[in-house]
Parts: sequence; C-alpha cells; structure tokens
Amino acid sequence: MTLVRISDDALALACGADDVAAAFAAAGCTVERVSSWGMHWLEPLAEIDGQGFGPLEPGDVATVLAEASPKAIGPIAAHPFIARQQRFTFARAGKTRPLSLEDYAANGGWQGLAKAREIGPEATIAEVTESGLRGRGGAGFPAGIKWTTVAKASADRKYIVCNADEGDSATFADRMVMEGDPFMLVEGMAIAAHAVGAQKGYVYIRSEYPHAIAKMEAAVRASAHLIAPVELEVRVGAGAYVCGEETSLLNSLEGKRGEVRAKPPLPALEGLFGKPTVVNNVLTLAAVPWILANGAEAYAAVGFGRSKGTMPIQIAGNVKHGGLFEVGFGITLGELVNDIGGGTASGRPVRAVQVGGPLGAYHAPSDFHLPFDYEAFAAADGLIGHAGITVFDDTADMSRQARFAMEFCAAESCGKCTPCRIGSTRGVELIDRIRARKNADFGRAPDRVEALPQMHNARKVERSLADEIVLLEDLCETMKFGSLCALGGFTPYPVLSALRNFPEDFGAAPAKEAAE
Ligand SMILES: Cc1cc2nc3c(=O)[nH]c(=O)nc-3n(C[C@H](O)[C@H](O)[C@H](O)COP(=O)(O)O)c2cc1C
Ligand code: SF4
Repeated sequence: MTLVRISDDALALACGADDVAAAFAAAGCTVERVSSWGMHWLEPLAEIDGQGFGPLEPGDVATVLAEASPKAIGPIAAHPFIARQQRFTFARAGKTRPLSLEDYAANGGWQGLAKAREIGPEATIAEVTESGLRGRGGAGFPAGIKWTTVAKASADRKYIVCNADEGDSATFADRMVMEGDPFMLVEGMAIAAHAVGAQKGYVYIRSEYPHAIAKMEAAVRASAHLIAPVELEVRVGAGAYVCGEETSLLNSLEGKRGEVRAKPPLPALEGLFGKPTVVNNVLTLAAVPWILANGAEAYAAVGFGRSKGTMPIQIAGNVKHGGLFEVGFGITLGELVNDIGGGTASGRPVRAVQVGGPLGAYHAPSDFHLPFDYEAFAAADGLIGHAGITVFDDTADMSRQARFAMEFCAAESCGKCTPCRIGSTRGVELIDRIRARKNADFGRAPDRVEALPQMHNARKVERSLADEIVLLEDLCETMKFGSLCALGGFTPYPVLSALRNFPEDFGAAPAKEAAE
C-alpha cells in the first residue's frame, strides 16, 4: 500500500491538508501525518518515497498516484530550499510524526538529556556556554550565562519558563517546533531544569496557537515519565504582545496583569513567584538537545562572529518562497530575500524588508550585503530579533508603515512608562500631520491648547514639514532612551529607518538628494 506523508502543521491545515489527506486515504493509501518541511508555498505538500508533490488539492490525487502530476517537485531532500539549509533544530522537520515517542527516539531524541544526566549539571552548563548559544527570543543574551546565574542562586525552588508567546510579525518557528517536534522542547526544558536545579517548568503559549497548545499538552503528558522528577505545565496567554517580554510574562503566569517589571531584580535571581527562573525562548531551549548530543564544538563551528550555530530564519510577507530556512549565521539579507525567497510574490521590485518583527528596522535593498548576525544588524541600526523577515514590494508606503509602528506600540503598550504610553500616541498624531501635508508644505499654526498662555514652553510659531520631522526624530530619541522596556524603546527603529531610508514617503527629499 502506498504510504503518503502530509503535514498536520497549522499552515498546512489552513491550506487544505486535511482534505488532501482524506482524498489519498479514499484512494486506498496509508496516510501518515507528519511535521512540516517548512516550504510554505508548497503546502499542502505530500511525500511519497521521498518524492514531493505540492501544492496539492484533493483533485490532484489521481495524477499523483498515476505518476503524472505536474506538481511533482522531485526528491524533497534535494530541493534547493532544503538542500541549502543546515538543519540542527529542524533536523526532523517533515520526517516524523509530532506526537510519536517512537519516531522521536528513533531519530536522535532523548540523546541530549541522557548526555546531560551522564555528565551532570555543571558540565551541562559548560557545554551550553561553550556552544556560544545566544537567546533566540530577540536580545541574543548568552544562554550559558543565564543558566549559570540561576544555578548559583540559592533557593528552595527554581523554575524554567519557556517563552512561547511568539508575537512578532513574520515569525512561526516556535509554533513549528511545538506543533512539529514537541518532544524536542520538552527535552530542552528537562535539560535546563537538570542543569540549574529547577523542579518545575512552564511553557507559556499564546492563545492564538491552539494547535501548538494541544500538541504541547499531549507531549508533556506522554513524556512525563521520561523527564521525572522535573514537571512541565502548559499555560495559555491571553494575547498581549507585551506578555512576550519576560517580566510581563512572569506577571501573567502569576495571574497578574501583564505589566513589565523594573529590573533589577533579574528574573534569573527573582523571577516566577520571586524564585530564580530561567526564561528562554522556544528556539533557545530547542537548540539544547542537539548541542548536548553533538557537542558544543560542533555547534560553535557554525556561524559568524559572536553569533554561533544556526538560526531558523522565517521568510514571509510579499515573497515568492516563504517558509522556514535554518542556516548558520552569516548568510546575507540579499541571499535570503532574492536567492532563497525568490523575490516578491507580486513580481514587482523589492522596496523594503523589515527584519526582527514589528520593532525591527525597515531595510532598503542597499542593506542586502548585511550578514545575518546580531552585531552586524545592530551596527546598521537594526536588529535580527526572532529572525522574522517581512518583504515589501515597491507599492509599500513607508510613512504608513512608520505610522503603523507607532499605532502598534500605542495599542500594545502596558502603560507603565510615559515615553511609550504617551509618546506612541503623540507619534501617531505627528506622523498623521506629516502624511497629511507631505506633498503640500503649508505651515501649521499652534493649536488651541498650544496657544494657551500657561503653555509657556509650547512653540508659538508655525511648524514647517521639516520642523515636524525633527520633532518626530526627537520623540523617537525620547522613546528610545526613556522607555522601560524594548516595546517603547525599539519602536523608533521601524519609524526612524523608514524616515531615513524612504524620506520621500514623508514628503522630504529622497535620501540621495538630501545627501547632495
Ligand atoms: C515587547 C517585547 C516582546 C517580546 N516578545 C517575545 C516573544 O514573543 N518571545 C520571546 O521568546 N521573547 C520575547 N521577548 C524577549 C523576552 O523579553 C526575553 O528576552 C526572552 O524571552 C529571553 O529568552 P532568550 O534569552 O532565550 O531569548 C520580547 C521582548 C519585548 C520587549
Ligand atoms: S516601554 Fe511600554 S510596554 Fe515597556 S514598560 Fe514602558 S509602557 Fe510598558
């Protein structure tokens, strides 16, 4: 009987994978539901004897089985999108049934945990430190240092918290881990708990991920005996972007309002319920079993500069070949967008690429030489964040995108500090004023409030467009340096990069002219 493998990942389901699976079953095939290969534009993708077919509809099944399908893509493992990758974290993607303990164990699962138990907590932390693994949630903080701080803290209880809030635009790698290879995350958390002496771990998942929640709950139940005495529990967030910020997440886990906490104290010393806590992103924890099983050296041998190992990069937006691309750091932005992503889906020229989610900068194609690396992007006034890439074609209005960044910050602000809470709203108003007059530079007289005598420090003369832009830059400066957390602090990145790289969209002279 023909064995057909089709993903049950949420993206494949959204594209109609269930119907295609049912059509193969009705045609007498055995259908196995596996994780996704991450070639999203080919979903629903079916695999028969290593050969791929996609994107399929139920009506395509007869031609696939008759070996006459125009949707045949050849051997999946040899497809350029897959063959160019270095898959450490996603080594099992597309190959195993997500909730099969048998598949997991037969494909390298639990080897990292066995090694950690064999070498003990101290040597386990040393391996993670030497691997150079940095937090994949955005800040890129070295995982080994965080673990060492928690391990050295003395307390009656310690916790591991997995940050699975994944709120960034264009990101889905955490979701794919949880839906496609949930035992890997369980194993990573068990290793972390063993290393720092934690008894309990929580996986905090956003409510918008019902499939991931169900898979993680099932995986935690099915593997409880393998990771005992460590216990894991899945908790569901209520859908606030700011609850991805680690201290806000801890408040939410404790049943409190998702408001950012001032640091210090660091969560590593006083985290969940006031106890030492490791908070790590899904991808950070999911990288750990591979590191333990294959050795720190093998992991650190891949990468670029201080960015060691691989990064599961998520390519999305207006792009031809969107999906999950895991590769060593150092690949350039241009390679990702043009060679791997295939340019825009619309076929129009690429205008901008936002890297690092809603708080990331908008890069023009002139930045395509940048290597994917924490330091290189920081030096270019950007960030790689959780490695989401959103592509825009030349129809994008970048002043509108800048407005969106401020609006997003205003909507998601936890309200604790003024630069973010008030600044973002003033930022929306200011960008609205700039956009309203971008092609007609009339002056703006002081409004009724500004004209009041008690507003002694308000400007009393008309503001030109150039003045408004200076005011926007000034506001961004205040938000950048005055905000308590990165939501307010990083919102200036998309705003200022849009202004710097695409000034004509704000009514100012194009970048080249301005430089002359
Ligand atoms: C507004 C905001 C949202 C964030 N959202 C997430 C998120 O969804 N997932 C995540 O892992 N980290 C997120 N972070 C980063 C976390 O605060 C924290 O740095 C991370 O969980 C630490 O784990 P890591 O060291 O493994 O990256 C966010 C930070 C901010 C300021
Ligand atoms: S920057 Fe915004 S989200 Fe962060 S603490 Fe301040 S108000 Fe809250």
